[in-house]
Amino acid sequence: MAVLPFLVACIAAVTVTATSSTQLPFQPLPDLFSLTVDDILAGFSTNHFTSADLVSAYIARTAEVQLALRPVIEINPDALLIAQTLDNERLLQNRTRGPLHGVPVLLKDNIGTADQLNTTAGSYALYGSIVPHDATVTANLRAAGAVILGKAGLSEWAFWRGTNNSNGWSARGGQVKGAYYEDQDPSGSSGGSAVAAGLGLTALAVGTDTGGSVIDPAISMGLSVVVPITVVQDSVGPITRTVKDAAYLLSAMAGPKGDPGDNYTNAIPFTSIPNYASYCIASGLQGAKIGIPRNIFPAPINYTESDIQQIDAFNAILPLLASLGANVTDNADYPDIDAYNTEAQFTLALDIGFKHDFPAYMSQLKFNPTGVEELADLLNWTQQFRAEQFPLRSTDFWEDSLASNLTTESPEYLAAIAHNAYLGSNATIQGALDAYGLDALVLPTAYSVRPAVFAGYPVITVPLGYFNATTAVVQAGGGGDPTVWGLNTVAPGIPFGLSFIGPRFGEAQIIQFAYAFERATMVRYQNLPLAKYMPVTQLHTPVAQAEFECPDALGLPK
Ligand SMILES: *[C@@H]1O[C@H](CO)[C@@H](O)[C@H](O)[C@H]1NC(C)=O
Ligand SMILES: *[C@@H]1O[C@H](CO)[C@@H](O)[C@H](O)[C@H]1NC(C)=O
Ligand SMILES: *[C@@H]1O[C@H](CO)[C@@H](O)[C@H](O)[C@H]1NC(C)=O
Ligand SMILES: *[C@@H]1O[C@H](CO)[C@@H](O)[C@H](O)[C@H]1NC(C)=O
Ligand SMILES: *[C@@H]1O[C@H](CO)[C@@H](O)[C@H](O)[C@H]1NC(C)=O
Ligand SMILES: *[C@@H]1O[C@H](CO)[C@@H](O)[C@H](O)[C@H]1NC(C)=O
Ligand SMILES: *[C@@H]1O[C@H](CO)[C@@H](O)[C@H](O)[C@H]1NC(C)=O
Ligand SMILES: *[C@@H]1O[C@H](CO)[C@@H](O)[C@H](O)[C@H]1NC(C)=O
Ligand SMILES: *[C@@H]1O[C@H](CO)[C@@H](O)[C@H](O)[C@H]1NC(C)=O
Ligand SMILES: *[C@@H]1O[C@H](CO)[C@@H](O)[C@H](O)[C@H]1NC(C)=O
Repeated sequence: MAVLPFLVACIAAVTVTATSSTQLPFQPLPDLFSLTVDDILAGFSTNHFTSADLVSAYIARTAEVQLALRPVIEINPDALLIAQTLDNERLLQNRTRGPLHGVPVLLKDNIGTADQLNTTAGSYALYGSIVPHDATVTANLRAAGAVILGKAGLSEWAFWRGTNNSNGWSARGGQVKGAYYEDQDPSGSSGGSAVAAGLGLTALAVGTDTGGSVIDPAISMGLSVVVPITVVQDSVGPITRTVKDAAYLLSAMAGPKGDPGDNYTNAIPFTSIPNYASYCIASGLQGAKIGIPRNIFPAPINYTESDIQQIDAFNAILPLLASLGANVTDNADYPDIDAYNTEAQFTLALDIGFKHDFPAYMSQLKFNPTGVEELADLLNWTQQFRAEQFPLRSTDFWEDSLASNLTTESPEYLAAIAHNAYLGSNATIQGALDAYGLDALVLPTAYSVRPAVFAGYPVITVPLGYFNATTAVVQAGGGGDPTVWGLNTVAPGIPFGLSFIGPRFGEAQIIQFAYAFERATMVRYQNLPLAKYMPVTQLHTPVAQAEFECPDALGLPK
């Protein structure tokens, strides 16, 4: 399979050391499964551990589960050196670069990094390619002092290749799986980021979304996430264990307004990005005006058992929202739901946008190892390259795109995109917010994502519950024949969530609401991943020796 051989070699070495480790009973170090940014900053300032300690432990924890769950595609060969440099700045020079100084962050493999890491969207077509510079998100994180720990597994091309791929599979990364059930479907294209954050293989993780890629996998690992600032269907979002960590990460990642590489950031209404963590207050729901647009999950549909459990849990939690001070307006319905249900074109922007944006991306690479330039080249290349598993995994999205006579300039295309923007705003979210005078909407996560992607409305999701012990297992895992993939999307113990949806650029408010809700519920710790997938390496576990066993593989100093 397509995991780098040397990474596998290191995994074996590290696992042996980790399991033979001795625990040091006198160091009350925080557990990496639940570690927060506040814990990290406190640990640094009291000299209980360093950034290098964190990076070493995270690499060892990744090694423990990598073969079974494949959350990570590449570890940054420079991560430990970067961490040591940042430790030295902090400890010797009393200097920090920014609010995330020394905090490890794992990026989805479609986020550009101008370092030793490859940026491939999971495809061998981009293996060895060299990007001209960091993505803005990456540059912002480095400026904030974060350590880029590596690249997370994902659905290849963020699931924009063919109907019958499986969620979380890429040729380079293999099949990402969730940890709450055997062969758990990672539920969306940012699965590796979600699994890594969920198991504590990194402090923070970043995903990207076009229609559920951040929210769905994150909630299936019991995480909090935000889909933030942008007006396109593509947006980047934090995947973290707590709302406050998402807030820290979002403040560090977002903006700037008017980024020359991204015209959509011109719409950012702030001159400087808010300090989202300052909205994390216990009384955050006091006086909040929140509505439930129930007509997004109407009564006449035949509910599955998973729908029933999620809706029952949602209804059961509403009195808590009220007791926390929220004024909840039920049936604050989406005004033009019929138009949304019948006219929304979710894949149109991808269909036409990718064949336009892909060549633009390829043309600015500093090195293109495969000579693939156009979408037609990528189609041919992918169909010929064995590890890409064609035709078992199809390429029909690209074939359809190439067959379409529409371009990003076509009047029909522009009209349809404008109509989608209406369907995601005045027809639904903005319409309900305005009609009922609301600050935000609340929904079961399963029904929360889709209208939001059209017009850039932010969504944050927080764990609400877990499928119960008698839940019938449902296989799915993307497109294609589910029995081929054998991935379980509904099963006992898998988490599900509750989402707050805010107005455009209303991230601060929904973070405030979600924080208060999370603090009152703390559902994340009510059920744990399967014990066999819980990494045992902790900050007190000596792992440094293991890294030196494979210096070439991880590029670490001898
Ligand atoms: C380190 O810097 C902080 C503020 O930047 C200052 O308050 C503190 O006194 C400094 N500590 C030392 C030991 O210089
Ligand atoms: C990136 O890809 C090149 C192959 O072109 C490989 O040699 C290198 O090890 C990869 N980097 C990492 C961090 O895996
Ligand atoms: C951004 O907008 C400017 C001015 O309208 C335009 O010249 C430029 O081509 C746009 N860039 C992109 C990537 O759309
Ligand atoms: C719901 O199920 C019933 C019985 O199987 C079927 O007759 C009906 O058409 C279904 N309704 C929808 C909306 O799928
Ligand atoms: C699980 O949920 C289903 C659907 O609500 C319900 O019928 C069943 O009794 C529940 N099982 C347990 C063990 O709670
Ligand atoms: C709750 O909101 C509704 C609708 O805006 C309003 O009529 C009602 O007075 C509010 N209730 C409280 C207790 O604020
Ligand atoms: C398709 O790819 C193969 C191998 O990658 C190459 O030999 C062939 O020329 C390509 N065909 C076209 C039409 O680009
Ligand atoms: C594009 O193709 C559609 C059919 O798929 C056709 O109806 C339409 O006239 C074509 N438009 C142009 C500009 O060729
Ligand atoms: C939404 O409605 C407002 C007026 O209420 C209008 O200014 C705006 O253009 C509409 N937006 C869309 C996308 O239709
Ligand atoms: C995907 O589709 C291709 C042809 O369209 C088919 O050969 C292949 O078996 C399908 N794979 C799955 C997993 O359904």
